[in-house]
Amino acid sequence: MKIVSVINLKGGCAKTTTAVSMAELLAEGDKKRKRPGSRVLLFDNDKQGNASRMFEVYNRDQEAEACRIMRTGHMGENSIRRVSGIAEDEKLDVIPCNYFMELAELAVKADQDHAQHDRYKTALGEVAGEYDYCIIDNPPDLGMNVINAMVATHEIIIPVCLDAYSLDGLEELVEQINQVKALNRKARIAGVLITDYEKSDTSEAAESWLRAKSGCPVFSQKIRHSTKAKDATFYHQTPTRYSVRSGAAQDYKAFVAEYVQKFGNLAAGERG
Ligand SMILES: Nc1ncnc2c1ncn2[C@@H]1O[C@H](COP(=O)(O)OP(=O)(O)OP(=O)(O)O)[C@@H](O)[C@H]1O
Ligand SMILES: [Mg+2]
Repeated sequence: MKIVSVINLKGGCAKTTTAVSMAELLAEGDKKRKRPGSRVLLFDNDKQGNASRMFEVYNRDQEAEACRIMRTGHMGENSIRRVSGIAEDEKLDVIPCNYFMELAELAVKADQDHAQHDRYKTALGEVAGEYDYCIIDNPPDLGMNVINAMVATHEIIIPVCLDAYSLDGLEELVEQINQVKALNRKARIAGVLITDYEKSDTSEAAESWLRAKSGCPVFSQKIRHSTKAKDATFYHQTPTRYSVRSGAAQDYKAFVAEYVQKFGNLAAGERG
């Protein structure tokens, strides 16, 4: 099972949209490109629970499964929620999260007797044979749960929005990436993904800087701004499910094709 973390310490740059789209599209496969579906585990690591809401597994009243995994360092029974009807053969499962993550993080910090940083790594190791990919949606901070995700991860995808402030923020972003990399030197940055893209002088300048000077690999495919992607959140749906014809849905499909072409596809019959 390959573990992929979607991360950016800046808020609102389409981390969740990217993580859920990627999970869904990897699970579905791509008939046109003859790519079979993969077995995908989507790990919601954000207490906001936005990814959990999209797959209707959010529960605000009880400690969510991700929080229990953080506290115990083990998968435990019933940690994984099956999501039916999303992908053919139901190959997409979700580990939900909610605000109990704050309590779980405090409990972990207080627990000096057990290792604190490799709890996800241990827990995910317990289900490694059951999935091809685990996609982790992270919050915009570097809390104990994000550190755990980074320690477990094999690859990092960094969504960025090239908005008016982004030129100022890009160097900071590179520093943050290095900070994150320091937590797990084996993790490779699969690439920066330009999201919510609208053509303007600022966005073009930011993109040139990113591709030529940031020192980070950048995916060729960009994700266009699309009002349908925002509308989809009102219905707790991914852009692909809400409107498969929208620019964002089409771009995410092409992005996943680029990703598997660069990093290989793990799917039925090709498991390593
Ligand atoms: N391509 C797009 N076009 C239009 N709106 C988009 C696009 N991608 C994401 N959005 C919208 O931008 C908002 C932020 O997206 P999202 O929740 O994925 O960001 P995030 O990085 O996960 O945020 P947070 O840091 O709060 O976790 C959402 O309302 C989402 O619908
Ligand atoms: Mg999010």
